[in-house]
Amino acid sequence: MSVNSVAELRGVSKIYSVKTFLLKKLSFYALVDIDFLLCKGEVSVLLGESGCGKSTLARILLDIEKPDKGEVFWFGEALAQMSKERYKRLRPKVQAVFQDSFASLNPRFSVKETLLEPYLINFKDISKKEALEKVRLELRKVGLSDSYLERYPHQLSGGERQRVALARALITNPQLLVLDEPTSALDMTIQSQILELLKRLREEEGLTYLLITHSLSTALEMADTITVMYLGRIVERFPRKLFRVVNHHPYTWLLINSYPDPFSSKPPELGTFKGEPPSPLNRPSGCEFYQRCPEALSQCAKELPPTKIFENQWLVVCHRR
Ligand SMILES: Nc1ncnc2c1ncn2[C@@H]1O[C@H](COP(=O)(O)OP(=O)(O)O)[C@@H](O)[C@H]1O
Ligand SMILES: [Mg+2]
Repeated sequence: MSVNSVAELRGVSKIYSVKTFLLKKLSFYALVDIDFLLCKGEVSVLLGESGCGKSTLARILLDIEKPDKGEVFWFGEALAQMSKERYKRLRPKVQAVFQDSFASLNPRFSVKETLLEPYLINFKDISKKEALEKVRLELRKVGLSDSYLERYPHQLSGGERQRVALARALITNPQLLVLDEPTSALDMTIQSQILELLKRLREEEGLTYLLITHSLSTALEMADTITVMYLGRIVERFPRKLFRVVNHHPYTWLLINSYPDPFSSKPPELGTFKGEPPSPLNRPSGCEFYQRCPEALSQCAKELPPTKIFENQWLVVCHRR
């Protein structure tokens, strides 16, 4: 176990079930055998198409849901074996901001109440006056003045609501922030303001981020490490500085090539890739990407590729690399 481990998943799988129209219950793996380590101070980005399991991974890391297999660690300690007291102490150190701030903020709470609540729950012997001071401080950190204290969520813009959600996450003095598509619902200009704010906060507060996005540009702008998921599995992980160095997993190339370059007059190259991701209810045998892969060999249809980790920290799960 690394001394720098802030959160870790080991061999984590998650099974969900859905009912078909004939009310038959079908189970499927939303996550398969995930090993994932978040080190102190890093910005780790999870990248992948919608439905590939990013939010499920986040919920398990946050202990909102339990894995069906495998273990979750916070600061090197297994959650399954942790005492209640220890858990209570670590819980405030792991916080989250989600995409939909309307759903995650209580519409009946003013900004002041939204921030006071988690603070008073976690810091019981604080006076009301001290708590209010802390609320003002956190609001200022996210760029909101005291005039926002008495406002309600519906009186805020999308960007302002996300700032409040961020202040609420910060008020318990966390070490890890899980940011699940925090800017996806915002206008482009507001998106970049929030990303700039996140960068500044990380430096000032010494935070560790797990940032989830389906946007390659956001990933490249923010990440130290990028982890690519496909159909509930990790298929590649690379340090950001190797973006232009390694011969990526074919799926990562698909993401890169389908990303429109605003300065190019050429359309993105999509021709060589076929189809859509298969359903997790009906996983192909072998490599689950092979049907869409322009480099597939006959072996790829039969055997699951091994996980290869190179000296430069590049991890890839592909027969062709
Ligand atoms: N509570 C649930 N019950 C059944 N299926 C779920 C549940 N939550 C997520 N799923 C399914 O699990 C898969 C992964 O979902 P999710 O983690 O939300 O993906 P992402 O965040 O990458 O878009 C999807 O197929 C989704 O429909
Ligand atoms: Mg999601």
